[in-house]
Amino acid sequence: MIPPAFIEDVIARTDIVDVIEPHVVLKKSGANFSGLCPFHQEKSPSFSVSQDKQFYYCFGCHASGSALKFLMEFERLSFPEAVERLAQRLGLEVPQSEGGEDASRKRRRQLIYDQLEAAKSFYKHQLRSHPDKERAVAYLKGRGLTGEIAARYELGYAPPGWNHLLVDDEPETRSLLLEAGLLVQKEDETGHYDRFRDRIMFPIRDLRGRTIAFGGRVLGDAKPKYLNSPETPVFHKGRELYGLYEARRATNRLSRLIIVEGYLDVVALAQFGVTFAVATLGTATTDEHLGRLFRQVSDLVFCFDGDRAGQAAAGKALLLLLPHLEDGRRATFMFLPEGDDPDSVVRREGKEGFLDRVKAGLDVSAWLFEKLSGDLKSAGHDLASIAGKAALAKEAVKWISTMPAGAFKQLMLDEVTAKTGVAQQRLDQIAETLPVAQAVRPVDQSVETRSSAEVEPLPGRGDDQRAAVDTDLALLVLHPELAEDLDADVILGLGQEGADGVLRLVCENIRAEGLKTPGQLIGHFASSPLAKSLKLAFDYTPVLDVSFLKSEFVERLRHRASRADHRRRQAEMAELIHRAPSSLSEEERQRLRQFYGQQKADQ
Ligand code: UTP
Ligand code: MN
Repeated sequence: MIPPAFIEDVIARTDIVDVIEPHVVLKKSGANFSGLCPFHQEKSPSFSVSQDKQFYYCFGCHASGSALKFLMEFERLSFPEAVERLAQRLGLEVPQSEGGEDASRKRRRQLIYDQLEAAKSFYKHQLRSHPDKERAVAYLKGRGLTGEIAARYELGYAPPGWNHLLVDDEPETRSLLLEAGLLVQKEDETGHYDRFRDRIMFPIRDLRGRTIAFGGRVLGDAKPKYLNSPETPVFHKGRELYGLYEARRATNRLSRLIIVEGYLDVVALAQFGVTFAVATLGTATTDEHLGRLFRQVSDLVFCFDGDRAGQAAAGKALLLLLPHLEDGRRATFMFLPEGDDPDSVVRREGKEGFLDRVKAGLDVSAWLFEKLSGDLKSAGHDLASIAGKAALAKEAVKWISTMPAGAFKQLMLDEVTAKTGVAQQRLDQIAETLPVAQAVRPVDQSVETRSSAEVEPLPGRGDDQRAAVDTDLALLVLHPELAEDLDADVILGLGQEGADGVLRLVCENIRAEGLKTPGQLIGHFASSPLAKSLKLAFDYTPVLDVSFLKSEFVERLRHRASRADHRRRQAEMAELIHRAPSSLSEEERQRLRQFYGQQKADQ
C-alpha cells in the first residue's frame, strides 16, 4: 500500500494544469483555463481548469475532479497507477508501506518478477541468436508476422533442451524459477527441467508491463499446441488478458476492446492495424475479466466462432456481461464464419473487412433476443403464438433483471414490450434519459447549505442537453402513494442535489402532509419554485408501462440513494485530498486511508 502521506505530498507538489495540458489545449480565460472537454464531444469549450482549486470541471458533461481523477479517467489508470504517474513526473519513487510479513512477501514477488523478466529477455535473444532460430523465425514468417510486430509483443523462442534457465543450480534461483512456473519439478523430486521447450514464446504482461507469465506455441502439430504458465503468486489466469498492456500502449485513448480467443489472433490483428484486441488465456471470459475490461473502456466487442461451441460461449458471456451493463457501457457480439478465427479473417479481409464485421455484430439486445428465441424454439415453443411470446417475455425479463438499474435496462425492457406486445402501451421513446446522472454538481459548490426549497432540477446547460422529465418524479406525481413504501433512510440518502433533491423533497412532503392525489400534490407546491417542474411531470406520460415502473420504483430509488451516497463520499475525499496534509485531523487521515484501501480493493 502507498503511504497516504506520500500521496498527499505528490498531490501538493503537482499542478493540475501541467497534468492536463499535454492532453487538452488550454487557454487562459479569466481566473481559470478552458478548453475542449476530453470526456465528451463538443465544438465550443466548456471544460474548465482551476489552478487555485486544483480542480477541473466540464459545464457540458459535468466531469470533474483532481489531477489524480483526471489521470484515472482520461488514461484509465487505477488509483495507485495514477499516483505512480504523478510521482514519476516529479521524479519520486513510490514507497510502499513496510509491514512485516507483507513486506517480505512483496520482496519475494519482486524476485519472481525479476526471473520472469530475465526469461523474457532470454527467449527474445534466442529468437535472434540460437542455432535453431531459423525454424522459429520461419514459423513466424509463415504466419505472416513481421519482425516489427514480433518486437512489439516481445515474442521469443524457447530453444529445445531441458535446462537453459537454471544455469548453476543455485537453490534460491531454483526455488524462484519453480515458483515463477518456469521450471517443472520432476515427479520423483530428483530434479527439475525447463517448462517451455522448442516453442514460440508469448510473454503475458500485466497493466504495468511486467511479465507475469508465458504462453508457448509448438512450431508444428505436436500436442499440446499451447502451453501456458501455471497459476503462480503473480499470475491468475482467470483475471489476466493477453495483449491488454500492448493495446493500452498502442493509443493514448483506448475506447474499445475486442475480446478474442487466441494469442495469435491478438498479434495478427495488431499486425493489420487492429491494435485493440485482447485474448483470454485458454479460459472462457470470467466476471473478473469483465470488471477489468470495463475499467479500461466502456465499449467491448466479443468475438466468437460461428459454430455451436461459439454460440454457447457467447451465451455464457452474455450472462456474465448483463450485470456489468451500467448506462454508458455497450457491447457487441460478433460471430465469425465457421472454420475461421480472427487471425484468418483479418489476413483474408484486412483491417477494414474485419472492422466491417465488428460493425455488423449484434448489440446486447439483439443477441439476447436471438439467443432466447433460439433456445425457446429448440425447446419446442412457437414464438408466433401468444404463449410463445409470453415465454419469451418472461425469459427476457429474467435475464434483464440482472442488469443494474438505469436507462439501458429500461431500453431493454422497452424492447421486450416491442417484441412481444406483452405490455399494453405502445412504446416509441426511451424512458429515462440523461438528467438523472447529470444532476451531479461539482463538489466544490457547497450545496448542503442551501435550503431545500431552493432545490430545482438542473436546467440543461449546454445546447446538447435536452431538458427531460425525470421518470421517477413523473411516477410520483401520478401516484403519490408510492412515497409511502420507501424507507426513511432511502429518502434521506437521496441528498439535496439536483433531480435527486427534488425527489427527496417531494417524498418528504407527501409523507409529512399525507398528500394522496396528484391534485393535492401540485396544489401543495403551487407557490414553490418546483410548481413548474411538477406540472411538467404531471403532463408527462412515461413511455414504459406504468405498472412495471411502479413495481420497480422502490428498487430504483434505493439505487439512486446509494449512487448519491457514493458521490458524497467521493466529494468528501476529494476535499480531503486537496487540503494541506498538515491540516488533517487523525480521524480524517483514517478516513482517507480507508478510502485508499477501498480503491485498492476495487481494482
Ligand atoms: P486455438 O486452438 O483456437 O488456437 O486456441 P489458435 O489461437 O487459433 O492458435 P493457432 O492459430 O493455431 O496458433 C485458442 C487459445 O486457446 C488456448 C490458447 O490460449 C490459444 O491461444 N489453448 C489452445 C491452450 O491454452 N492450449 C492448447 O493446447 C490450445
Ligand atoms: Mn488460429
